[in-house]
Amino acid sequence: MIEVQHVTKRYGPVTAVDDVSFRVDSGQILGFLGPNGAGKTTTMRILTGCASATEGQAFVAGYDVFEEPVEAKRRTGYLPETPPLYPDMTVREYLAFAARINGIRSVAQRERVAAAMARTNVEDVADRHCGKLSKGYRQRVGLAQAILHNPDVLILDEPTAGLDPKQIIETRELIKELAGDHTIILSTHILPEVAQTCERVVIINKGRVVAVDTPENLTGRLRGSETIRVQLDPRGADETAVVQAATVPNVSNVTATPTQDGLVTLEVQCEKGADVRSEVARAVITSGWGLLELTSMRMSLEDIFLELTTSEEPREEDAEAPEATDA
Ligand SMILES: Nc1ncnc2c1ncn2[C@@H]1O[C@H](COP(=O)(O)OP(=O)(O)OP(=O)(O)O)[C@@H](O)[C@H]1O
Ligand SMILES: [Mg+2]
Repeated sequence: MIEVQHVTKRYGPVTAVDDVSFRVDSGQILGFLGPNGAGKTTTMRILTGCASATEGQAFVAGYDVFEEPVEAKRRTGYLPETPPLYPDMTVREYLAFAARINGIRSVAQRERVAAAMARTNVEDVADRHCGKLSKGYRQRVGLAQAILHNPDVLILDEPTAGLDPKQIIETRELIKELAGDHTIILSTHILPEVAQTCERVVIINKGRVVAVDTPENLTGRLRGSETIRVQLDPRGADETAVVQAATVPNVSNVTATPTQDGLVTLEVQCEKGADVRSEVARAVITSGWGLLELTSMRMSLEDIFLELTTSEEPREEDAEAPEATDA
């Protein structure tokens, strides 16, 4: 439904996007994750026909974005990093205007605008000027604008940036609702966002794709061993809990740290894939320790993201690649 094949974009000496390829199947949500300057916006602008590519091909809903731009754009809804709202128009006027630009016939305009406003929950500000909206409402009106013409594909550049936690949850829910009917790419540098919203993740760094996978596989892939943390109340018990925990099969290491309130935290490391929680719990309870808490410390997406995006510099031959004239 969305296909990017070996897309490269150079701005003079800057390679913003470097041989990027990925695809998003129909109805899927793909998270485009990367630090500042990674090339997310550039890739999205290329997909929406707002920027050219120096090399490569891209298809949206079966149309080549470079060869058949009108057809491709008709099937694409785009929420840019900064929603392009006109401050002096009311929300309703602005959406009607956007509907006209999108070629929605006047008979259908009113209905489409009403449907988009209902979907994005902006009806209560319909007659307010866009310039007077809060950041969250601006973002939602931007989203309403993107879905007006019921496009097959939605390209959302940081749809939850600057929103408060409640709005973030609402926007995530809305995006999830929109998937299925729409194929969606959303960019973000907020990691929980991809874990909670997206079925697949493309991690991009310095213009290059460094990983494409499901959020679950990404967390699993880089996990060498697993750790569980156990909070214990040692009062009235002997010290054998640590020893007992260490003798549980598949446990490779146990460290005990006393905490200020007289409790003890155990960090129990075990072999990858082994679930030692119930046996560790049994071992410490048998030793007479109070078991207050037991948590599995999976390697978080944060850890993975850092591991993937703080790796080596670009290879020398790439740095010396000839500059393109396309800008
Ligand atoms: N019009 C332009 N002219 C020159 N360089 C540009 C232009 N647009 C983007 N770049 C450069 O391309 C690189 C990628 O930028 P891009 O905006 O795509 O990153 P991003 O992943 O969206 O970052 P952010 O998370 O900050 O939004 C950056 O080095 C940026 O400076
Ligand atoms: Mg960006």
